[in-house]
Amino acid sequence: MQIEVLPLAPEQMKQKVADETQLGFGRLFTDRMLLVEWTADKGWHNARIKPYEPFMLDPATTVLHYAQEIFEGLKAYKWDDGRIALFRPEMNARRFNQSASRMCMPEVPEELFLDGIDKLVELEKDWIPSAPGTAMYIRPAMIAVDPYLGVKPGDHYYFFVILSPVGAYYAAGFNPVSILVEDKYVRSVAGGTGDAKTGGNYASSLKAGLEAKKKGFDQVLWLDGKERRYIEEVGAMNMFFAYGNHIVTAPLTGSILSGITRESVLRLAIELGCTVEERLIDVDELFADLRNGKVTEAFGSGTAAVVTPVGTLGYKDEALQVGDGGVGAITQKLYDALTGIQTGKLDDRYGWIRI
Ligand code: COI
Repeated sequence: MQIEVLPLAPEQMKQKVADETQLGFGRLFTDRMLLVEWTADKGWHNARIKPYEPFMLDPATTVLHYAQEIFEGLKAYKWDDGRIALFRPEMNARRFNQSASRMCMPEVPEELFLDGIDKLVELEKDWIPSAPGTAMYIRPAMIAVDPYLGVKPGDHYYFFVILSPVGAYYAAGFNPVSILVEDKYVRSVAGGTGDAKTGGNYASSLKAGLEAKKKGFDQVLWLDGKERRYIEEVGAMNMFFAYGNHIVTAPLTGSILSGITRESVLRLAIELGCTVEERLIDVDELFADLRNGKVTEAFGSGTAAVVTPVGTLGYKDEALQVGDGGVGAITQKLYDALTGIQTGKLDDRYGWIRI
């Protein structure tokens, strides 16, 4: 599909950040965005890259009431030689369409998803930061924009992509975070939308997150919605536990997100000589293994979170330190291996990079 590029007036250009080490996550956006529309009669049409600006939405718009929305997260990196690299964007295109199918939304042709992102990133390349730990976060999303209060799938959608130069997701940077296993609220149940990247999953996690913060934890680790017994995910990350060189993570049962970084980490861990296992992780066993020192490291993975060490795990009234509470050796090696490929410092032996 032809993507039209609309002009950008000088007054629509924003000030770029002077100090890249001060970039947080997701507050700063570039000058342009991609917008494509879908209607029941025309399908996808009117693809354009235009100045970044607010949408004008009718107060009755479907997405504002019934949350018919999906999104993705991926990153572009500026390499030392000036080339711009995307990390596994085809995987995001595929997962976006799986989310679309779950939320009764039209699929975006993979070519349009990838071409649109390539063109937008190329136009906005001066915004891509290059300081260590920084990247351009790419946020594709789709919303139903019909002004209609009946509950039904929309007949009119916006697929759009915005860009945000980012540093670390957690304010502490690459430092251990503390995670509380949630035993009151649940994120998802089998048959729910836990494996779709849809806004409602995140809205419903906020209350538990706030309560965990009051208790001094950074994030919540969800248990399965049925027995409240098995470890699932952290919302912004999939979770891994190291028993020496043996790495364990929860299986993709349908109620957790199929993380692209998760899948990459599993492959890199094998390359580092670890054994990996996807299995149900019983929370009581996990805490027994933390108490007796069998669990040597814990970390999360995600596009925004990259590889984030977990220094403390809490459950009910107990808070346990993981290993020595610092950054474990395997966690560090995985972070280095992953970011090495993403930033072009290590060979792209899996074909994960799109230039
Ligand atoms: C990502 O890692 O890209 C995510 O989508 C997590 C997010 C909620 C910040």
